[in-house]
Amino acid sequence: MNEKIIQEYIKLGQNVDQVFLKQEMDWICEKLLKNIDRFQENFPSACTTNHIYRIKANDDWTNGFWTGMLWMAYQYTKNEAFYDIVMKNIKSFQQRLADHFVLDHHDIGFLYSPSIVMVYRDTQEKSLEKIIVEAADKLLNRFQEKGQFIQAWGQLGNPQEYRLIIDSLLNLPLLYEASKITNNPLYAHKADAHYQQVINHIIRSDYSTYHTFYFDVETGKPDHGATHQGFSDQSCWARGQAWAILGIPLHERITQQKNDESKWTHVFEYFIDKIPQDLIPYWDLCFDDTSHEPKDSSALAIVACGLMEAQKVGYRQDAQMIAKGMIGALSQTYTSSKYKDVEGLLMHGVYAYSENKGVDEENLWGDYFYMEALYRLLNPEWKTCW
Ligand code: GLY
Repeated sequence: MNEKIIQEYIKLGQNVDQVFLKQEMDWICEKLLKNIDRFQENFPSACTTNHIYRIKANDDWTNGFWTGMLWMAYQYTKNEAFYDIVMKNIKSFQQRLADHFVLDHHDIGFLYSPSIVMVYRDTQEKSLEKIIVEAADKLLNRFQEKGQFIQAWGQLGNPQEYRLIIDSLLNLPLLYEASKITNNPLYAHKADAHYQQVINHIIRSDYSTYHTFYFDVETGKPDHGATHQGFSDQSCWARGQAWAILGIPLHERITQQKNDESKWTHVFEYFIDKIPQDLIPYWDLCFDDTSHEPKDSSALAIVACGLMEAQKVGYRQDAQMIAKGMIGALSQTYTSSKYKDVEGLLMHGVYAYSENKGVDEENLWGDYFYMEALYRLLNPEWKTCW
């Protein structure tokens, strides 16, 4: 592994102290306060266009990130303006379930963990349990017995859609939460089965990852890897690798196992070996400084949170310090702290390059994981929403 890159992060991490963390949270909360004036109980779109989010209904896979940020902002500032919008957002998430509105996909964990589970963990509000369990039931409905995985997208059983994707690791905590609430181990068992399929098939022998992996619809046997948002089927989409770096230790913390340390270490090292000079990854790890391709800052914010989970499960002694360095690197030139007219927090992300969606723009998960990383560092005892 490129030790030089690790040392550079560690050096930067030394400046990430309480004063820095508070400064970062202050401008973020100020920007979010300005943003809620415009969005009210509506939601920002998944990514910006010319650095401005569109005003949308609760209709995408990213809405939970918005509510999660507002809740962290409320906890940090105690400003009731945040609280009021979060309460309205909760009703919206409840209604979305009742209407089954744009929920025919697996990102139900991304939707309901940073919103409802986050508030539930802090308040223990009983009425939220029903929402969590109903959301988990919808996710469980996508579990394919043949193949033992949760089908990511599309019509259930369609051979063209018979696949899992690496992002799904972040959808699993919702199932474990539902098992805890209901005392029904079924949710956790299905999550365990799906996790094993991800780990066994999506990580290649060189410890890069496929974005998606297909199973045979007749036999359930593993078939082939393919990309959706990466550069090519054989390349390694930066955010996919990041979802693995966060998803593996998260799973080990939740299930209190330590089976995948070695895999995680290799997956993390692969990511570090592809980090360019300014310490921020390109949107696909096949690119380097000669490529002139856009960066994906959001991948690094996700990896920073992954390192904090890795520290919790004891994978690396220096994991938290490296995470701090990643946050330090992002704060230097990738945040919008100096740009009043930029609505997002973390600049220079890529949503879906081949669709020309959110290329070199802000996106809600980049904003969210940057803020989650800061919030984790400020509140070491915080249980997170995952
Ligand atoms: N989970 C979708 C993405 O990372 O773009």
